Amino acid sequence: MTAAKTLPSWDVLTKHGVFPEANHDEVARLNFLTHLNVHLSASILPGVKTAFDTQVKPEFEKEHGREPESRHEVRNAMLKHPYFQTWSALRRNTMEMRQQAGRAQVLRQIENLVEKVDGYNQGAESLILDDSVQIPNNVGSVDIHCQPGCYYTEYFENDVTVAASYDLGLFVTTAGLLGTLSDGGGKAVGNWLQDNHPEFMPKRILDIGCTIGHNAVPLAQAFPDAEVIAVDVARPSLRYAHARAKSMGVNNITFIQANAETLSQFEDQSFDLITTAMFWHETSHSVMPNILKTINRLLKTDGLTLHLEQPQYHGMGVYEQFIRDWDTYFNNEPYWGPMHELDLKQSLNDAGFNGDDMFETGVVSSVDEKIFGKREAGDAGEDYGRAPVWNAFGLWKR
Ligand SMILES: C[S@@+](CC[C@H](N)C(=O)[O-])C[C@H]1O[C@@H](n2cnc3c(N)ncnc32)[C@H](O)[C@@H]1O
Repeated sequence: MTAAKTLPSWDVLTKHGVFPEANHDEVARLNFLTHLNVHLSASILPGVKTAFDTQVKPEFEKEHGREPESRHEVRNAMLKHPYFQTWSALRRNTMEMRQQAGRAQVLRQIENLVEKVDGYNQGAESLILDDSVQIPNNVGSVDIHCQPGCYYTEYFENDVTVAASYDLGLFVTTAGLLGTLSDGGGKAVGNWLQDNHPEFMPKRILDIGCTIGHNAVPLAQAFPDAEVIAVDVARPSLRYAHARAKSMGVNNITFIQANAETLSQFEDQSFDLITTAMFWHETSHSVMPNILKTINRLLKTDGLTLHLEQPQYHGMGVYEQFIRDWDTYFNNEPYWGPMHELDLKQSLNDAGFNGDDMFETGVVSSVDEKIFGKREAGDAGEDYGRAPVWNAFGLWKR
């Protein structure tokens, strides 16, 4: 029998210099939502599988004389089942409540937050905003994961509402998995490079779709002598990202507002390492090829491009695909499914790389002891948020 685990409290998050404050009720609300999410995935979700195995699948087989052959057939059949309906509605609701809670918390202190952000950003050459950058359709046409205003909407001058709300709400969906600075992905990449390629010392690093910079910062810390460029189209996110990094004493990142489909301000072969983190599933079939071509143009020969992303559907059972695909239909993530069914080798070939050079790997994040306490001897397996393995794909350019 395993000992009951205490669920982490939102309040364990590190309060960097522009992190929104929270009062007692706000912390309680965020904890309620976090723990409801954990309950839904740990205790309720297995029942969805039972409903599929014992009722929905046999009924489908009776009607069609065969098993469901695609995630779409599974979804269409499951949509009628009340257990799935309940789980799905609750999950959607926790996301909507996360967005409402985060937004209200930020808006009640927005003047103060903007003042703090301005304090770090005033006159800084390491924050380059460009009014002429248009929000591309993949970002502008949908409030991704139910986030009001997506990553880019500004309600007044120097606004950072959407970014601060994103920062404080990440914990609710991930329940500590990302660490106290939500930087587990970037840290995992730094560790993976150190363990597997200790000789690789990139001098110039590009992080694409950096949002609030939480995965660019650990890379900049892992390579303090490198120049890091972090790009995004979203001004509020970049303002917040820059101030956040400065408040943490990280000075080797320049945050630039730019569309990664072109990046014409950078010369060919001018980066040693180009990264993205949880980025591709928010790009469309028209945008992704352009960005891959840009990466090919900007990456030096012998340079590395490495991408943290959820695994592709290829080779997965149709039920697992259906569950992973939930976001596509019920969480305002319309690109999620189409991206995860791509043949990435082919996409890399089409962008001018040699797709056969592509590798897939798991990069392991270190346990954040501030959240989960010390690992006990023999405690090697994955254990609700400890040492999660991040799926990654990449390629050394030859
Ligand atoms: C899912 S978020 C990425 C999250 C972040 N990289 C992380 O570490 O978790 C996607 C980000 O990519 C940005 N984005 C989407 N399309 C872009 C494009 N064409 N050029 C630059 N940024 C883009 C969005 O504004 C958003 O901030």
